[in-house]
Amino acid sequence: MGIPKVSLAFILLAVMFGQRIQGSQQPACNLNDLTALKGFIKCLESDIGGWNWNSLNCCSWTGITCDNSSVLNERVVGLELGNKRLSGTICESLVGLEQLRILNLSHNSLDGEIPTKLFRFQNLEVLDLSNNYFVGSLPTIIHLPSVKYFDLSKNYFSSILTSEICKTSSNIQYLDLANNLFGETSTYLENCTSLQYVYLNGNGLSGTFPENLFRLQHLRILHLQENRFSGPLNYGIGNISNLVELDISSNGFDGSLPDVFGRLRKLESFSAGSNILSGLLPISLVNSPSILMIDLHNNSLDGPSLRSLDLARNKFTGGIPFHFKNLQALQFLSLSNTSINNISTALEILQDCKNLTILVLGLNFYHEQMPSNVNLQFRSLKALIIPFCYLRGSLPMWLRGCKMLQFLDLSWNSLGGSIPFWVGDFRYLIYLDLSNNSFSGEIPESLTGLDSLVNDTVQLKELSAGFPMEKSIEQGGPRLIYNNIWGLPATIDLSFNKLTGPIWISFGNLKKLHVLSLKGNKLSGTIPDSVSGMTNLEVLDLSCNKLSGEIPNSLVHLSFLSKFNVSYNELYGNIPSGGQFMTFPYSSFEGNEALCHGIIRPCQTKLIPPIVSPGKGMKIVDWNFGIGLTVGFGLTVAFCFKSGWVLCKG
Ligand SMILES: *[C@@H]1O[C@H](CO)[C@@H](O)[C@H](O)[C@H]1NC(C)=O
Ligand SMILES: *[C@@H]1O[C@H](CO)[C@@H](O)[C@H](O)[C@H]1NC(C)=O
Ligand SMILES: *[C@@H]1O[C@H](CO)[C@@H](O)[C@H](O)[C@H]1NC(C)=O
Ligand SMILES: *[C@@H]1O[C@H](CO)[C@@H](O)[C@H](O)[C@H]1NC(C)=O
Ligand SMILES: *[C@@H]1O[C@H](CO)[C@@H](O)[C@H](O)[C@H]1NC(C)=O
Ligand SMILES: *[C@@H]1O[C@H](CO)[C@@H](O)[C@H](O)[C@H]1NC(C)=O
Ligand SMILES: *[C@@H]1O[C@H](CO)[C@@H](O)[C@H](O)[C@H]1NC(C)=O
Ligand SMILES: *[C@@H]1O[C@H](CO)[C@@H](O)[C@H](O)[C@H]1NC(C)=O
Ligand SMILES: *[C@@H]1O[C@H](CO)[C@@H](O)[C@H](O)[C@H]1NC(C)=O
Ligand SMILES: *[C@@H]1O[C@H](CO)[C@@H](O)[C@H](O)[C@H]1NC(C)=O
Ligand SMILES: *[C@@H]1O[C@H](CO)[C@@H](O)[C@H](O)[C@H]1NC(C)=O
Repeated sequence: MGIPKVSLAFILLAVMFGQRIQGSQQPACNLNDLTALKGFIKCLESDIGGWNWNSLNCCSWTGITCDNSSVLNERVVGLELGNKRLSGTICESLVGLEQLRILNLSHNSLDGEIPTKLFRFQNLEVLDLSNNYFVGSLPTIIHLPSVKYFDLSKNYFSSILTSEICKTSSNIQYLDLANNLFGETSTYLENCTSLQYVYLNGNGLSGTFPENLFRLQHLRILHLQENRFSGPLNYGIGNISNLVELDISSNGFDGSLPDVFGRLRKLESFSAGSNILSGLLPISLVNSPSILMIDLHNNSLDGPSLRSLDLARNKFTGGIPFHFKNLQALQFLSLSNTSINNISTALEILQDCKNLTILVLGLNFYHEQMPSNVNLQFRSLKALIIPFCYLRGSLPMWLRGCKMLQFLDLSWNSLGGSIPFWVGDFRYLIYLDLSNNSFSGEIPESLTGLDSLVNDTVQLKELSAGFPMEKSIEQGGPRLIYNNIWGLPATIDLSFNKLTGPIWISFGNLKKLHVLSLKGNKLSGTIPDSVSGMTNLEVLDLSCNKLSGEIPNSLVHLSFLSKFNVSYNELYGNIPSGGQFMTFPYSSFEGNEALCHGIIRPCQTKLIPPIVSPGKGMKIVDWNFGIGLTVGFGLTVAFCFKSGWVLCKG
C-alpha cells in the first residue's frame, strides 16, 4: 500500500515529537509498542519480511496483531513470528509490549538467554519459544498471571528446574518443557491446578516420580519419558484420575507396576517401555476398559516366570510389541480382538517364544494375507486359533512343521486353494475347524488317516493347566472365548467351503471322531456305508451338498448320534428306521425331493431317482402322486428350496 509522501512526512514529524497522531487517516500503533519492536529488531541478526519501517502502523506488519477495540489506542497484543528464520537474541526491550497476549517465536534460530523480565507479562496468555537455541535457566519466580500455554520445548535451557511456576501463574493449562537440559528437578507444580498437559520428557530429570503431580486433577497428558527418574512407581498415580495418556518410558523406574489402573478410568495410552519394571502385569491394567495402547517393551516384566498372558479384548494398535520375543517361558498367549495388525510380523516375533503351546490371535489382522514364509517354526504349538480374521491366501506350508498340533481353528477366514494332503500328517490333531473359508477341490483322503482320530493308542499329552476358552457363534456374530479347548469333542468341521468330490469310504476309519460337519459344500457321490465305522460320532452334518443315492441303513448303528442332517441334497429312497433315526426331526431330511418321509412324503414302492437337478425340482413332480398331493408337495418343495437356499448359503 503506497503512502502519500506528504502524509508520511507528517507522520515522521509526529513521531519525532513523540506525539500520538490524532485524527489521522493513517493509523499508527502505540508508540511504546513501536519502540519496543525497534528494540526487539535491534537484537536480531536477521530482517523480518513484511516489517515496513516506513509505515508506522506496526499493526499491519507481518505477525503483529493489535487490539482494535479502540481505534485511537491500538496496542500490540500478538507477536507471532514462528518459523521466520529469525536469528540473534531477544532484547529486554520487548517487555515494552505491555499488552501482549500472544508471543510466538517458535521454530527459529534464536539463541542466548531470555531476559528475566520477559517472564513478567501481565496479560500474556500464550508463550511459545519452542524450537530455538535458547540457553540458561528459568528465573525462580515466573510472574505470568494470565498464561495458559507455556512452551519452551526443544531448546537448551538448563540447570535445576526450581521455578515456582504456579505461585503466580496458576492458570497454566499447557506446560511444555520437553527436550531441554533440565537436570535435577524440584518442579513445584502442585499449585498448577489447571494443568491439563505436562511435557517434561527428554530432559535429565532425576529423582522419584514427581509426587506434586498427584494433586493435578485436570491432568490429561503426562509425558515424563526419556529422563533419569528412578525408584518404584507410587500408588498416588491413581489419584491423577483424568489421565488419558501417560508416558514414563526410558527412565529407571523399577519394582512392579502398581495396581492403580482401575482408578485411571480415562487412560487410553500407557507407555512404560525401557524401564526396570518387573513382576506381572497388574490385573487392573489388563482389564482396563479404556486402554487402547500399552507399551511395556524392554522391561523385566518379560522375566522367565511369565507363562500365561491373556491380553484379549484389549486394544493395541499396530503390531505385536517386538519384546514378545523375550517371553521365553510363555506357553499360552491370547491376543484375540486386540486390533493388532500385520500377522506376518506377529508370527515372526512369536516364533521366538519357543515354549508357546496355545496361541490365540482371532479377530485381528482383518483381510491380511496369511504369511507363507516357510521358515516360520512353532515346534511346541499344540493349539493355533486364528478365526474371524478374513485372512486371504491358502493353508501355509509352515503349518506343516507344527508337528505337535492338536487343535487348529482357522474358521471364518477367506483361505482358498485345496486343503493340502499333509493335513493328514498331524499325528496329534483332534480338532480341525476350517469352516467358512473358500477351500476348493476334494477333501484330502489323508484326513481320514489322522492318527489320533484313528489309532486308539495315541496318547495326547494335555497341558496341566487348562485355559478357560469357549467359542460360539451367536446370531451370525462371532464370539471367541474357548472353554478349556482340551475338553472339546474330536471335531472335523469343513462346513461352508467350496469342496467337491466324494465323501471317502475311509472316513469310516475315524473311530474317535465325535463331530463331522461337511455342510454347505458341493460334495457329490453317495454317503458311503462305511460312515457307520465312525462309532463315536455324535454330530453328522452333510446338509447342503450334492450328495445322491440312499442313506445307508447301517447308520442306525451309530448309537451316539444325536444330531444328523442330510437336508438339501439329492438323496432318494427310504430314510433308515430304527436306532437314533427315530429321534431326528423332519428338518434333518428336508430338501431332498426324492427322499420319502412319513406322512409328508410317503414312500412309494418304487421310486425313480431324480433326473433333473434340484433347482428345478418342482417340475419332476408327476405321475407318482395324486393331484391333491402334487399340489401340496409342490408347495412344500418350493418353500423348502427357498428357505433352504437361504440357510445353506449362510
Ligand atoms: C479488529 O476489528 C475487526 C473488525 O472491526 C475484527 O474482525 C478483528 O477481529 C479485530 N481484531 C482484533 C485483534 O481485535
Ligand atoms: C507458533 O508458531 C508456529 C509456527 O507458525 C506454529 O506451528 C505454532 O502452532 C504456534 N504456536 C501456538 C501456540 O500457536
Ligand atoms: C501452593 O499454595 C499453597 C497455598 O496457597 C502455598 O502455601 C504453597 O507455598 C504453594 N506452593 C508452591 C510451590 O507454590
Ligand atoms: C490420593 O488421594 C487420596 C484421597 O483422594 C488421598 O488421601 C491421598 O493422600 C492421595 N495420595 C497421594 C499420594 O497424593
Ligand atoms: C532397554 O532399556 C535399557 C534401560 O532400562 C536401555 O538402556 C536400553 O537401551 C533399552 N534397550 C532397547 C532396545 O530399547
Ligand atoms: C520351556 O519348556 C521346557 C520343557 O517344559 C522347560 O524345560 C524349559 O525350562 C522352558 N523354558 C523356559 C524359558 O521356561
Ligand atoms: C508388516 O510389517 C513388515 C515389517 O515392518 C512390513 O514390511 C510389511 O509391509 C507389513 N505388512 C503389512 C500387511 O502391513
Ligand atoms: C498307533 O499308535 C501306536 C503308538 O503311537 C503306534 O505304535 C502304531 O504304529 C500306530 N498304529 C497305526 C495303525 O498307525
Ligand atoms: C471385541 O472387542 C470389542 C471391544 O473392544 C467388543 O465390543 C466386541 O464385542 C468384541 N468382539 C468380540 C467378538 O468379542
Ligand atoms: C438341517 O439343515 C438345514 C439347512 O441348514 C436346516 O434348515 C435344518 O434346521 C437343519 N435341521 C437340523 C435338525 O439340524
Ligand atoms: C461366513 O463368514 C462371513 C464373513 O466372512 C459371514 O458373514 C457369514 O455369516 C459366515 N457364514 C456362516 C455360515 O457362518
